Order: sequence, then structure tokens, then C-alpha cells
Amino acid sequence: MTDQVTQYKERIARLEGLLEINRSLVAMLDLRPLLYCIVSAARELTQTEASSILLVDRNSGQLHFEAATNLQGVRSIVVPMEGSVAGQVVQSGKSVVVSDVRNDSRTAYRQTDEQSGFVTRSILAVPLIAREKVIGVLEAMNKKEGNEFTDEDLELLTVLGDQAAVAVQNALLFQQSDLIAEMVHEMRTPLAAVVAYAELMQRPSATLEQNRQFADIILHEAERLNDMARSFLDLARLESGRAHMAQDPIDMSTVVRMVVSVVLPQADARQIGVSVELADNLLSVVGDAQRLHQAILNLLSNAVKYCRPGDNITVAASCDGSVLSVSVIDTGPGISEDALPRIFERFYRVPSAEDQAVGTGLGLTITRQIIEAHGGHITVSSEVGQGTTFTVTLPVSA
Ligand SMILES: Nc1ncnc2c1ncn2[C@@H]1O[C@H](COP(=O)(O)OP(=O)(O)OP(=O)(O)O)[C@@H](O)[C@H]1O
Ligand SMILES: [Mg+2]
Repeated sequence: MTDQVTQYKERIARLEGLLEINRSLVAMLDLRPLLYCIVSAARELTQTEASSILLVDRNSGQLHFEAATNLQGVRSIVVPMEGSVAGQVVQSGKSVVVSDVRNDSRTAYRQTDEQSGFVTRSILAVPLIAREKVIGVLEAMNKKEGNEFTDEDLELLTVLGDQAAVAVQNALLFQQSDLIAEMVHEMRTPLAAVVAYAELMQRPSATLEQNRQFADIILHEAERLNDMARSFLDLARLESGRAHMAQDPIDMSTVVRMVVSVVLPQADARQIGVSVELADNLLSVVGDAQRLHQAILNLLSNAVKYCRPGDNITVAASCDGSVLSVSVIDTGPGISEDALPRIFERFYRVPSAEDQAVGTGLGLTITRQIIEAHGGHITVSSEVGQGTTFTVTLPVSA
């Protein structure tokens, strides 16, 4: 009898825990922290060694690891729909229990094990269903102390999965609506200019010369809208946390040299000097070369854009222990103390920048997203009249 009482008490405690988790999940609107909260909860509730969450990419239909506890370096791995437990869960919409992977024909877990060094013995996987669609899979691996999964584990993970699916869906929608609202707001200004100048052109009193000028403005604003749309889509993809970064070894000195060669003609034309200082000991980093190129290019084009003729830019890269840093140092106008904390915000431009150069105010936001998606950081220091230094740090590959 006492045994049973203890069991009931434990069960109530776990259900209370679940309720508590649900309360925090519904309040979280940021996707990344939300996903980590879900996997930690899954691991704790099922008393397992590791847990992971996979989401179905809406565009490609592929399944990707999005977050995991106790599994290193699995993020962004694509899991095949055929031959994987997660794939079966997505296709059937039903949970799957594998008590011993050695007796199972689905061997996709081996790829993850290889990548992470984890040894999968057993898997419990439940679907994440939102609005009647399977949006992903929540998995728990290896019951602690070699035990078998119980019915209660399955029940708890299923309930957690149901709650998690709603929370994930909300976070995705919230992100989208927030970004769309901002985007629409930002597009109004160039659109209003296009309409106003087109109307002016229709006036009978407009001269040929005036009309040519108006057409130039319209073209310019239309190009701005185009740039905005491109950056916006880029950012939307990055912010969804589901822009999938390649995981290739990258030689950053090559990236730096390529980026410099892109901006050199423009810098020359504006009489801005560009020099490169690459340390000999540069180790490689793991990531997406194209994205890192884009991130460094954004910093360097800003430097060229905001510097004045006669200014100088230095791009320096070096390694210190397990960290590689790339700095873009300029002797340009600098950024005021008031503006500095805001420059990474979406659409933020220092008010004086409007007169200096065209831009959307998304470049640095995108850059930061890319760097953080690589496990790195970006910092800035600046002094008005002296110049600005942006420093990107990235973990070097083991
Ligand atoms: N090297 C720099 N020197 C001075 N100001 C800078 C520098 N880099 C960025 N800024 C300031 O930070 C603001 C934000 O930069 P960000 O790259 O995000 O946007 P942008 O260059 O205005 O537009 P775009 O989206 O086209 O990049 C800029 O508008 C500019 O005022
Ligand atoms: Mg910029």
C-alpha cells in the first residue's frame, strides 16, 4: 500500500511538473529559448540521457534537428524521412518506441551518433501536431540506468509534445507577424515617394527635364524597395531559426580576401584605403562560407559606405586559443554613444546616415544573426570623429 502511495505521489509530482512547464512554454515567444526549454523538459520528465527536437522545413519538407540536450553538434543535421524513427513519426503522425535500436531496421540514428559521439540505445519519439499537421518530432533517448521506457514516459512525452507544438507554432507566427508589421511600415516611405512622383509626372505642367528627374527618383526608390524585400526575406529566414547553415570547414583568410576584393573598386573610387592583416596561425571554423562571407561583407561595405575620402579601413583576423576573431577597423565618422546600442536593431539607422548613404538598416541585424547562428559574437566600439571597430568572434573547429 505504501508503495502505491509513493507511486501516486511521484506521479502527481511529475504531472505538476508538466503543468509548470506548460505555463512557461505558453509564455515564451522566442523560438530558440523555447526549443531548449522543451528539450530540457522532455529529458527531465522521461528521465533520459538526451533529448532532441526536429522540425519539418516548410519549404523543403525535410526534417532538421533544431535543438538538443546532451547531443553536441547535431543542429541542422537533416534526418531522412525513410529509415529514421523521426521520419516514421512524421509520416504516420503516431509515436514510436524503440527499446533497443540494435533490433531495429531504422538506422538513421547512427549518423547522429557519429556526429555527436553519443551512443543511442533506445528512442521514444512523439509527433508535434499543430492545426492537424505534423510540424516536427520530440525525441528522448536512453532511459537512465538502462531501464526500459514505461507507459507513463510515453504518456508524459505525448502531453509535453502536444503543448510544445502549440507553443512552437505560436512562436513562429509571432515572429512572422512582428517582422511583417515592421516591414510594411518601412516600405510605406519609398512607396509613398513612388506614388507622389508618378503623380507629379502626370501633371500637364511638368517639363521634360522635371519628368526625367522624377523618373530617376522613382527608379531609385523602386531599387530601394527591391533591396528591402531581399534583406527582409533573408532576415525572415534567419530569424525563423530555420535557415540551414552548412557545416563546412572554412578558411577565414580566404573569406576575408574575397570580401576585400568585392569592396576594393568602390573603396578606390572613394579614395578610401583598405589593408588586410591576417595572422599566420588562423585555424578554420565550421560553418556556412556563403553566410560568413555575407556577414563580413556587410561590415566592410558599411565601413566603405560611411567613411569619407582619405579614411582608412583595416581588416584583421587572428586566433587566440579556441577563438578566431575578425575585426573591421575604420577611421570614419564614428557612431554616437546614443546611437551605438541601437545599431543592431532591425531597420535602425543613425539619423545622419540617411544623408550619407542609402540603406535599409537591416545589414547589421542580418550580420549578427549569422554570427550567432555560428556560435559566435559580434561587438562594436566607436568614437565620434575617430572611427569604428566591429569585431566578430567565432569558435574554431576542434
Ligand atoms: N562603420 C560604420 N561607421 C559609421 N556608422 C556605421 C558603420 N557601420 C554602421 N553604421 C551605422 O549603423 C547603422 C546600421 O547599419 P546597417 O548596416 O544595419 O544598416 P545600413 O547600412 O543603414 O543599411 P543596409 O541594410 O543597407 O546595410 C547605419 O545606418 C549607420 O548609421
Ligand atoms: Mg549596412
